[in-house]
Amino acid sequence: MVQTIGVCGAGTMGSGIAQVAAMAGYRTILYDMDAGMIAKGRAGIEKSLALLQEKSRLTEAERQATLDRLSFIHRVEDCIADLIIEAIVEKPDIKLDLFLRLASVNDPKTILASNTSSLSLDALAEKVPGPERFAGMHFFNPAPLMKLVEVVHTLHTAEETTQTVMQVARQMGKTPVRCKDAPGFIVNHVARPYYLEALRLLEEGLSDPETIDALMVATGFRMGPFRLMDLIGNDINYAVSISVYEAMGQPERLKPSPIQQQKVQEGALGKKTGKGYYRYE
Ligand SMILES: NC(=O)c1ccc[n+]([C@@H]2O[C@H](COP(=O)([O-])OP(=O)(O)OC[C@H]3O[C@@H](n4cnc5c(N)ncnc54)[C@H](O)[C@@H]3O)[C@@H](O)[C@H]2O)c1
Repeated sequence: MVQTIGVCGAGTMGSGIAQVAAMAGYRTILYDMDAGMIAKGRAGIEKSLALLQEKSRLTEAERQATLDRLSFIHRVEDCIADLIIEAIVEKPDIKLDLFLRLASVNDPKTILASNTSSLSLDALAEKVPGPERFAGMHFFNPAPLMKLVEVVHTLHTAEETTQTVMQVARQMGKTPVRCKDAPGFIVNHVARPYYLEALRLLEEGLSDPETIDALMVATGFRMGPFRLMDLIGNDINYAVSISVYEAMGQPERLKPSPIQQQKVQEGALGKKTGKGYYRYE
C-alpha cells in the first residue's frame, strides 16, 4: 500500500505533482539537487494552496494538513518512499543515474515511476534494478489542474505495479489511461506536429507566434502552440521533439526546428525563465 510518495525534481512538473500528492493525503517528499529549486517549488506550492483557500476550494485546516504532509529535501539518500515519481531533466543517462541511486537506498518493492514525456521506458527498464516495479506516470502541465495521467507499462512492468500506479492516480483525482511504451506515448505523439508545423510557418517567415496562436485559439484549441511551448518549457519541448524524431527513425515531418535549438541556446525557456516566444513578469 502506498503511504509515502517521493517526487524527484522540484521544477515545473515535480512541484505540481508533489502538491497533488500531498492534497490527496499522501506523505510527500519533494527532492531536488538544487536548493534554489526546492525553495522555489515550496513557495509555488504555498502560493497555490493559499489561492485555493481564497477561492474556498480548500479549508484552512486542509491547507495546513497538506503542508504538514510535505517535506523538502536535497539529499537523494533521504528520498525513501513507497512510490517515487521522477520528474527531472529529460536526459536518459541522468534519469538512469538517479534511479540507480534511488534503488540502492529504497526497499526492492518501492515503485519507481518516471514522468518522462518521451524517453523510452523499455530501454530504461533494461537497466533499472527490479524492472517489474518500474513504470511511466506521465502527468500533464499544470499538474494540479490537468486530469489526464498516462500510465505506461514496459515489457517488464508487473501488472500489480500498473494497477497500483493507476490506483494512486485515481486517489489524486486524476484520470489514468494505460499506455504501451511508444515514442511520445499517446498525447505527445499526436501533438508533435502541432508545434512543429507552427514552427515551420515561423521559420519560413509566413506568420508570427501571436497570429498563429490567436488563430488556433479561434479554431477551438485551448492554447496556441507558441504559448503552449512556453508553458511546457522550450528546453523540455526541444528534448521531447528530438527524442520522438530519433525514436521514429528521423522522419522529415518530425524534424526538430532550428528555432527550438536557438531558444534553448539563448536561455529563452519560456514562462519559467520569464522569456520565450513571449515575455512574462
Ligand atoms: N514541462 C512540461 O510541460 C512537462 C509535462 C509532462 C512531463 N514533463 C516531463 O517532466 C520532467 C521534468 O520536466 P519539468 O518541465 O518539470 O523540468 P524543469 O526544468 O522545470 O525541472 C527539472 C528539475 O529537475 C532538477 N534536476 C535536474 N537534474 C537532477 C538530478 N540529477 N537530481 C535531482 N534533481 C535534478 C532541476 O534542478 C529542476 O528543478 C521531464 O522528464 C519532462 O519531459 C514535462
